[in-house]
Formats: sequence, C-alpha cells, structure tokens
Amino acid sequence: MHWMERFNFKISSNSIGLKCVFVLVAVLILRALLLPSIPGLVGRAEWGNIVYIRNDSQSGIAVRQDNKFLEVPQIVWGLNNQKIAFARACLTARMLNRTLLMPSLSASLFYKEIDLLQPISFDKVFQFQKFNELCNGFVRLGRYSDLSNPTQVLELQKGNGRKWTLERDLEQLREHSKGKFDNYQVIRIIGKNPFLWHDHWPVRDYAKVFECLVLVDEFTNEADRVVSRIRAVSLQPLPYVAVHMRVEIDWMIHCKKLEQRLNTNQICSSKDEIIQRVANIEGLKTPAVVYLAVADKLLRNSSVLEGWGEGFLPFEKKKLGVEGIYSKYPYLIQSAIDYEVCLRADIFVGNSFSTFSSLIVLERTQKMIKKGESGTNNITWPSYAYNIKGESNGPKRWITNMSDLNLQAISYGTTHISS
Ligand SMILES: *[C@@H]1O[C@H](CO)[C@@H](O)[C@H](O)[C@H]1NC(C)=O
Ligand SMILES: *[C@@H]1O[C@H](CO)[C@@H](O)[C@H](O)[C@H]1NC(C)=O
Ligand SMILES: *[C@@H]1O[C@H](CO)[C@@H](O)[C@H](O)[C@H]1NC(C)=O
Ligand SMILES: *[C@@H]1O[C@H](CO)[C@@H](O)[C@H](O)[C@H]1NC(C)=O
Ligand SMILES: *[C@@H]1O[C@H](CO)[C@@H](O)[C@H](O)[C@H]1NC(C)=O
Repeated sequence: MHWMERFNFKISSNSIGLKCVFVLVAVLILRALLLPSIPGLVGRAEWGNIVYIRNDSQSGIAVRQDNKFLEVPQIVWGLNNQKIAFARACLTARMLNRTLLMPSLSASLFYKEIDLLQPISFDKVFQFQKFNELCNGFVRLGRYSDLSNPTQVLELQKGNGRKWTLERDLEQLREHSKGKFDNYQVIRIIGKNPFLWHDHWPVRDYAKVFECLVLVDEFTNEADRVVSRIRAVSLQPLPYVAVHMRVEIDWMIHCKKLEQRLNTNQICSSKDEIIQRVANIEGLKTPAVVYLAVADKLLRNSSVLEGWGEGFLPFEKKKLGVEGIYSKYPYLIQSAIDYEVCLRADIFVGNSFSTFSSLIVLERTQKMIKKGESGTNNITWPSYAYNIKGESNGPKRWITNMSDLNLQAISYGTTHISS
C-alpha cells in the first residue's frame, strides 16, 4: 500500500480538502480490508486483463522515419510517485528507441476525480531544456509541436491485474520496439495508471533520470529562501538536520498494518523514538537546527516541536515563518520545495518505508558518489533511517544500493538498507 505515500505532504489547506482526506482515508481502509494485501497489487484487482491494440493508421499517410515518439497518460499522485512514473515513462521510451512526448504531471493530490487532478505541464515544474542537456544520449523529451501533421498513432494498451506478469509486460514492450510497430510515428500508451507498470530497470537508470530533473528557477529560488531562513536561525553557522517525520494519522494507520503484515516493529516510529534516535546520531555537533518536514496540515497541533533535547533547535514551516512561501502553491510544488530542502540538508533523517525519504536518500547517495566518496566512513551527505536502530541507539546509516536491479525497495519500503 505504498500509494498511501501520496498523502505525504501538505493537503490544500481548506477544510473541504481535509474532509476529503478523511473520506479518502476511510475509503482506503475499506479497500484495504476488502482486497488482498499483496504489495503492488492493491487496487489492480478491480481492473481487467484486457490487452488490445488499436490500429489508427490510415493508408497513404507519410510517416517520418527519423522522428519516433512515445506518448503516456497524465502522471498522477504524490511527487515521489510522479517522479517514479515519469522515470518509468522515460525508460520505456528509451527501450522503444523513442522520444518521450513531454507528459502532464498533476498539481493536485486528488487522484480519483480526473477533473480535480489539475494537469500541469512538465516544463512548468522542471526545466525542459536542461533535462535534455543532462540526459543527452540516454533519454529525450519532445514537444507535441515536433509531431508531423497528420500523425500515425498506435495505441498500446497496458495490461494489469495478476495475470499481467512482469514477463508479459516486458515481452509486449520488446515486441513494440521493432518490426511493423516501429513504423508508427507515435506509440500512445493507454492504461489505468502508469505508476503500476512493471519495473524493468535497474536503480542506476532511475538515478540517471532523476539527476536530469532540475526545478524551474522560480521554485529553486523558493527553496533557496527556505534554506536561508533555516541557516539564519542562528548567528553562527549551524548544521541543519532535515527530518522527514511521518507521524500523521494516515501514515500511522498504514504503517501499523504494514508492521502486522511484515511481522516487524521497525516501521512506525513514534515522535519520541525519532527524537531520541536523532539525538544519538554519532558525531552530530550541537547546537543543531532541526527542520521538520511534516505534513503539518494532517497534524492536529505543533507537538512535533516539543520534547527535543538541549542543543536541538526544532523548526517546522510555521515557526520558521515560511508558510507563506508554501501556501502560494499547489500540493505538487509544495512537496517539490520541501524535497529540495531535505536534499540540501547537512544531515537527512527519514523513514525507510517512505518513498519520499527513499528518493531523497537515492539522490544524496548519487551526489556522494559523484564526489568520489562512497563508503561508510566517508560522510558527506549522510542520511539515516530513524525507523531502524543503528549504532549507539541512533538511527541506521542509510545509503541507496545503486547496484539494485529494480526500484522495488524504494517503491515498497524496506528494513534492509545498505549502510
Ligand atoms: C494498420 O493498418 C494499416 C492499413 O490498414 C496496415 O497497413 C498496417 O499493417 C496495420 N498495422 C498494424 C500494426 O496492424
Ligand atoms: C535507435 O534509433 C537510431 C536512429 O534511428 C538507430 O541508429 C539506433 O540503432 C537505434 N537503437 C536501437 C537500440 O534500436
Ligand atoms: C498534541 O497531540 C498530542 C498527541 O496527538 C498530545 O499528546 C498533545 O498533548 C497535544 N498537544 C497540544 C498542545 O495540544
Ligand atoms: C573519502 O574517501 C576517499 C577515497 O576513498 C578519500 O580520498 C577521502 O580523503 C575520504 N574523505 C574523507 C572526508 O574521509
Ligand atoms: C546491492 O544489490 C545487489 C543486487 O541486488 C546485491 O547483490 C548486493 O548484495 C547489494 N549490496 C548491498 C550492500 O546490500
């Protein structure tokens, strides 16, 4: 039920939003009770296994041989899910030797009602040109204006459900990368949800795509403002620890169920446990500023700020005075800014069962490798998982295993983290 993650960050602040969240949570609980608990399969059971290919081609239309594209449906759900789905779309296009037509992301969190999804063009969030520069030779994004007119489109229906196996999915993609299918200028993937596509790519490939995602200047500047507020908390420069604190109601319901299913107690950390583990991070010099990345709209009060020991200066958005920066923007942008703030922290502490935390650790690991410094003793961009006990009662050191063959651990969470 990793999709609960989509509630990760701030929900639109009005009370209608909040009510919707509670209704959603109720629906999700019901659904979870009614559906078998198999990771990745939840929600698929209701969809059929039909695969069909519609041939939209009309004879006599010239097809440009040099320009081949892949089109995917609007990308939905939380920031992290959208990033993964986007990377998957890119890697699918790469496999088909095609350019990905710039997809729409979703600014809002509401996933059921299509009209509430607020499509937002990819290039309103991430730099289009920069993406192609950085990913040159690996994957490529194209614009709809690159299409010749009229266009031959092949619709490719992705299957789903239990019978739609990894192998079938891969076979379908292989088939469509050659022969008669390759003549179509556009292959348009249709299907219920790209996030549930099977994963055929190693972590390294995902990391490459994520690296090419650079926020547009407007949002980078907002993240700069938040970070400089954090840095300005004290006159002398202090390290800042970003803690992705998951203690909201929906998370607690979700993680308790997960713990039961996986027969572990290493997923849900209480606020007190988080505080204690952060305080025990080896080599952490106090005083230190703690930035709490919390879905504060889901918290009833500011109790997350209480209980921190001496030497820790805890802040969330409100106390930091940056609520105004966030509230201007829809949900997707808010979490993109928070993501950036966590990415740049001197130390990051997250939950290994959170996709949001996992993606941040992946990018920090990537940065560390880029700097030519990997290995445990070499602590640049250190990250920790507070839900797993590490040395001296602290949180466990956390590095993404870049050799992993798929993104499974990141999508579904794990207690087996590299360190
Ligand atoms: C689609 O239809 C056209 C003309 O009707 C035909 O030439 C072509 O082979 C068909 N393509 C596929 C993939 O079936
Ligand atoms: C992809 O397309 C380019 C240009 O048509 C071609 O040179 C290349 O061999 C193709 N690669 C694969 C893996 O099919
Ligand atoms: C905030 O909530 C926690 C638990 O949800 C409770 O223990 C605490 O007393 C509350 N604090 C305030 C100031 O209401
Ligand atoms: C990190 O490791 C590299 C090589 O393993 C070494 O050259 C470098 O000095 C180390 N840096 C620190 C800060 O320990
Ligand atoms: C990383 O993943 C690879 C491939 O799954 C595995 O063989 C290796 O043992 C993992 N390394 C660590 C440190 O977990």
